[in-house]
Amino acid sequence: MRLSSFPVEPFKIKMVESIGRTTRAERDKCLRTAGFNVFGLPAEKVFIDLLTDSGTSAMSDRQWAGIMTGDESYAGARSFYRFEKVVRDIFGFAYVIPTHQGRAAERVLFETVLGKNSIVPSNIHFDTTRANIEVRKAKAVDLAAAEAYDPDAILPFKGDMDTSKLEAFLERNGARVPVVMLTVTNNSGGGQPVSLANIRRISAICRRHNVPFFFDACRFAENAWFIKGREKGYERWSVRDIARKMFSFADGATMSAKKDALVNMGGFVTLNDPELAARIKNNLIIGEGFPTYGGLAGRDLEAMAQGLQEVLDESYLEYRTRQVAGLGELLDEARVPYFKPAGGHAIYVLADRLLPQIPRNRFPGWALTVALYRESGIRAVEIGGGMFGRKDPKTGREAFPALELVRLAIPRRVYTASHLGFVAESLAAIARKPERVKGLRIVEEAPFLRHFTARFEEID
Ligand code: F0G
Repeated sequence: MRLSSFPVEPFKIKMVESIGRTTRAERDKCLRTAGFNVFGLPAEKVFIDLLTDSGTSAMSDRQWAGIMTGDESYAGARSFYRFEKVVRDIFGFAYVIPTHQGRAAERVLFETVLGKNSIVPSNIHFDTTRANIEVRKAKAVDLAAAEAYDPDAILPFKGDMDTSKLEAFLERNGARVPVVMLTVTNNSGGGQPVSLANIRRISAICRRHNVPFFFDACRFAENAWFIKGREKGYERWSVRDIARKMFSFADGATMSAKKDALVNMGGFVTLNDPELAARIKNNLIIGEGFPTYGGLAGRDLEAMAQGLQEVLDESYLEYRTRQVAGLGELLDEARVPYFKPAGGHAIYVLADRLLPQIPRNRFPGWALTVALYRESGIRAVEIGGGMFGRKDPKTGREAFPALELVRLAIPRRVYTASHLGFVAESLAAIARKPERVKGLRIVEEAPFLRHFTARFEEID
């Protein structure tokens, strides 16, 4: 392992949590009990957990201090006003409405704006955003450029929306579009950033068609950092100013604070329209709580307020993005193929290229998650045929998504260079003997979101 691939952590460790090692035999038993589905594993039996970067951040000493000073008043808590001020300073919108997590922010927004025939475009909708739209019988449409789906296209802003598609789309369907969304960074497209030039164009098109424009902002700071490093004219801007600039083009945002607010639970909606804000608050009271706590404790609001400021620290963002890229460099050396360039929060391994002997209908991505756990105790998540494959009810044949990925999502401030070196070595060992990995078949599955609970068996 080359330690030089990795940045020096801009923090020291004040509190530690032990992680237990398990034997290969123990892990094999756990896999069988879980029906070869890593969502079914007890987390205690996982050595390095790269299932998600959501809600898995390590909080700082100052965030923990905020936990102790949170004001738990039902209405008008001091912690709310502090949180509201921080969000207003960074995002620049007038109204700040807390929710218990990102999908709750999506729910209160979409329940308020969607009608039966509504269509909501985005670069690529995240699953919960799509589900929150589709469950209300509206349509979610992805308008990312074609390169967003090409794992080999090395582009600085592969998360961009195709604005000519957006223009044509609004020309035809504008009256049915209550809001245009933009996911930064684009989680479902390899964690790739969106440029300010693209944001500016999307905004102009939306304004011309009189359609509100909202960010799905959960990784906004990572996106702003990429703009600073990659977009001409912003090299000397602070990340805070770039973030402000990004949001200045929009009418609002939904946010899962479990990512770039560096907390384990929380979210919010923030927006400018007073009438819409009032309707969202009424909805919030029914499902989440009074508008000064929205499903959270006062201490959570303190931790979010502090986390939102820490995430804009540029030495943190440099460390964060270089840590992910460093893992990518080690995988390059080991000839483990992945979606290029490295994303802001994750590396997405191209499982069908790594395991060419396993056909798509034997789930190469799923097989890789099983092998990684069995050999090394590492948990990753498949984003391929298991998650997005669809069975034709008549023929029983599976249709597969374009890409067969395994996401290694890196929790924030949690793992060191040696942890990630171990991850790279484990994948390298699989890449040296791919023929040892077996394909799988599904033996049990739910009608929706089957990957969470499906059971598999290995094929010899
Ligand atoms: N939007 C994006 C882009 C996300 O990545 C997520 C969550 C959400 C919204 C929903 O937020 O979980 O707080 O309700 N992504 C996690 C992941 C689950 O693993 O990528 P939430």
